[in-house]
Amino acid sequence: MRSRVVGTGSAVPDRVLNNHDLEKMVDTTDEWITTRTGIKERRIASSDDFTSTLATRAALNALDMAGIEPAELDMIIVATVTPDYPFPSTAALLQNNIKAVNASAFDISAACSGFVYAASIVDKFIKSGTVKNALVVGSEILSRIVDWSDRNSCLLFGDGAGAVVLQADNGNSGILDTFMMSDGSNWDLLYQPAPGNRNPASYKVVDERLAFIRMQGNEVFKLAVRAMEDAAIKALAAGHMTPADVDLFIPHQANRRIIDAIGKRLGIPAEKVYVNIERFGNTSSASIPIALDEANRKGLIKPDNILLLDAFGGGMAWGAVTIRW
Ligand code: ACO
Repeated sequence: MRSRVVGTGSAVPDRVLNNHDLEKMVDTTDEWITTRTGIKERRIASSDDFTSTLATRAALNALDMAGIEPAELDMIIVATVTPDYPFPSTAALLQNNIKAVNASAFDISAACSGFVYAASIVDKFIKSGTVKNALVVGSEILSRIVDWSDRNSCLLFGDGAGAVVLQADNGNSGILDTFMMSDGSNWDLLYQPAPGNRNPASYKVVDERLAFIRMQGNEVFKLAVRAMEDAAIKALAAGHMTPADVDLFIPHQANRRIIDAIGKRLGIPAEKVYVNIERFGNTSSASIPIALDEANRKGLIKPDNILLLDAFGGGMAWGAVTIRW
């Protein structure tokens, strides 16, 4: 039994914030941002966009492509670090929005690796025969937890959602192998101090800007390159493959230099690497499913193609998924 991708979808807010807009907000330049990150612009949610509403739009696109009714879904997982509420889950809100009345619905927190982790979890449920149709969504409104006065981090992030419908199938297409790994010893390289029970709502949270992302970018950069290379090789090796077998590499879109370094280490030529970071920045758990949906709708993925999805993020958590299309 395999988990076949039968639908992809995505949704991003309309508002574009480009590097020249950022020049007016912090001490930076378009040239610095472009050469250090590859990002030219990112999408920013309006006041009536929420993680659940972006997730809903992406999910409906994916379900429409799959030709599946929401009531046919058995499981919904939303990967997010920017939920609408601490509880209930954003997946519960999404379930209600699309009326997926026969599904279990829950969130997972694995930061930028959230989509890869969620797809890996669903794959195990499908392979065990428990789930037939599942919806996996990565959705984020990072603009609300970005410190817009911190030039080291604010330029990196953007908002958006991506979704995939996975269906149990007896053929050769679908998820081949998955790899997941974490290193909690480096949790404080990238985190949001509040809200949470260490720093409950208080004036201190506001005064000390605790509700915004804290990041040691340089350290994250080095770990990301090593870990994503390792995850890719392990997921491929589990299926007796090497990077030479990959037709399309869809890495988490964190930094153009990270993507280029991993492509080089793996020996995957640039034309097989999907990159859209220049338009969206880092949308955390949404970055891989948005890229997958774009590649799919552009017709870049052919039957039997081998796809490699590869992610790294806060936790630290990393992982990879191989798919035969
Ligand atoms: N504009 C102009 N100058 C800047 C800016 C800015 N926005 N930000 C930093 N600088 C300066 C620094 O102050 C420093 O100056 P100094 O040499 O006088 O001290 C200089 O530029 C170099 O700074 P570095 O931090 O060394 O720059 P680096 O090349 O590492 O790039 C960046 C920083 C873009 C954050 C990079 O480290 C990065 O992308 N790291 C990965 C972080 C990441 O992706 N986090 C997201 C979540 S995890 C993930 O998705 C993988």
